[in-house]
Parts: sequence; structure tokens; C-alpha cells
Amino acid sequence: MDRLIAAALEARERAWAPFSCFCVGAAIEEEDGRVFAGCNVESASYGLTMCAERVAAFRAVAEGGRRFRRIVVAADTERLTPPCGACRQVLWELCGDVEVVLVNLRGSQESMRLSTLLPRPFDAKFLA
Ligand code: THU
Repeated sequence: MDRLIAAALEARERAWAPFSCFCVGAAIEEEDGRVFAGCNVESASYGLTMCAERVAAFRAVAEGGRRFRRIVVAADTERLTPPCGACRQVLWELCGDVEVVLVNLRGSQESMRLSTLLPRPFDAKFLA
């Protein structure tokens, strides 16, 4: 199995989701080959919950990653789970038009570019 998919599935096992019981894993691949994984982490103050994709993206940046090739999102749903709107925005800003790979636990898989999930994005260029 693709090691990035394996990393996302493994990270999903570490999800802290006592409120929703919806476990998500994500893994981002740096251009230099490093892999940064994350899982969703929920808070009893629900709005503070952080999605797996953003945990992985922030971790990647915090550990010195700058240029990213792919992100895998893993969840246990028949219909493949895509990143939420907030994660699409953050991924766009940190990863650009990265390849997004959605997987589930039954072996289904689908790839797309982030720009198809987030058409006409807002980003730092507008602030100039
Ligand atoms: N969640 C993610 O981690 N990523 C997604 O792509 C969708 C939603 C999390 C947030 C929350 O912990 C739970 O799934 C239910 O929304």
C-alpha cells in the first residue's frame, strides 16, 4: 500500500473524537519525501476541535516542511470524506494546488486537485 495512505490510516487510529465518534486521519507528503500525519482532536468546547487535515498541515509546517506534494484524508465512510471548508482554505494557503487523495477503510480511493475542491480561492495575494 502507498505509504502516505498507510500513514493516514494509522493516524486515524489515534483520533481523539469522544463527542462525534467520527475518526479522521490525514498525512501530507513533503517534496523531500518526509511524511507528516495528523488526526482530528476534539474539545468539550466543541468549536475548538481541530480537523485531521489541519493538524497534519500545521505539524508539517512546524517541523520545517514548506513544499508539499500530496495529502491523504482517511475516514470510515462509504462515500469518501472530503476536507471541510476551513481545511480547504488552510491547505490552499500552506500547500497550494496539492493533490488530495480520499480513502476509506474498504479500499476505495479517489484523487483530485485542491483547486477542484476550492475554486476561486482567497489567499495572501489579495492582501498585497
Ligand atoms: N473532521 C475532520 O477531521 N476532517 C474532515 O475532513 C471532516 C471533519 C472531524 C472534525 C470533528 O472532530 C469530526 O470530524 C466530526 O465533524
